[in-house]
Amino acid sequence: TLEAGATARARAHSNIALVKYWGKNDAVLNTPAVGSISITLDALYTDTRVTFRAGLATDELWLNGCRHDATKASRVLDLVRYSRGATLCAIVESTNNFPTGAGLASSASGFAALAVAATGAAGLTPTARELSILARHGSGSAARSIFGGFAEMHAGSAADGLDSYAEQLLPGADWPLAILVAITAHGAKPINSTVGMGATAVSSPFYPAWLATAPTDLADMRAAIAAFDFVRVGELAEYNCLKLHALMLTTRPALIYWNAATVAVMHAVRDLRASGIAAYFTIDAGPQVKVLCLPIDASRVHAALSTVGGVLEVRQSALGPDAYRLD
Ligand code: PMV
Repeated sequence: TLEAGATARARAHSNIALVKYWGKNDAVLNTPAVGSISITLDALYTDTRVTFRAGLATDELWLNGCRHDATKASRVLDLVRYSRGATLCAIVESTNNFPTGAGLASSASGFAALAVAATGAAGLTPTARELSILARHGSGSAARSIFGGFAEMHAGSAADGLDSYAEQLLPGADWPLAILVAITAHGAKPINSTVGMGATAVSSPFYPAWLATAPTDLADMRAAIAAFDFVRVGELAEYNCLKLHALMLTTRPALIYWNAATVAVMHAVRDLRASGIAAYFTIDAGPQVKVLCLPIDASRVHAALSTVGGVLEVRQSALGPDAYRLD
């Protein structure tokens, strides 16, 4: 059984979807309405320690030293407790090496690290697929952060959610790429993704088209990655990102995640392409712009993004590894 004091630490890296999901199949199981394909980033990660304790009335979540609401963390911990027949609550201590809740996918790295640390502390030995399903209960994008390199998340259709998991398409070492993150605002975003893609997402008249076109985007991206066709990967990622934002903009009330600098960076990326550099942007539920390019072009792209008005900081990343235990 699970002993008080049982503890483990894990690290998981953030990921950025090239073909994105938005909308849920099932709110309780937290299964996405569409599949997604992502890359894991080595420069952005979460370190998490989970310690089961006697005498705690509830789970506690401490993020960068501040106490946060633990509701979603408890969903993951409940599943771990259930599989051990245990009731002990846990302290979760996490640190992000990047700004939290600002569209840098902190929930992805956070819940992936939690899944690895919580199962480790409980003495379980899950498969990568089981970890992916467990992480999904915290956040859909977290299911992908169990895997390094390129990963695909399957929406699934089973009533128990057991076919809704991510798997690796390609390890990062097989195709080195560079990602430059242009940070245009610090601080938490106004509407988090769970609220944004909740009941309101379906209010857009574009939502049926979003669902209908997802399988084609996924198949095209899978083929482009298998062919190591960078231009095709970039074009598809940018197209899919703009399609998602068209959906967000037409949701009622409207979800406008961009600021002026976000748009300026989009134009700067298109100008880079006009000058012959293969760079492509993608944007999630926040104002930051992630720019994909080949490692050989990274310093020129970095320099160009740094001069765009309103860009506060540019962070460079390569593709990251699987989530792993730190102890
Ligand atoms: O699963 P969440 O709550 O982290 O939402 C992810 C939403 C997007 O980042 C916009 C898309 C995606 O597939 O990552």
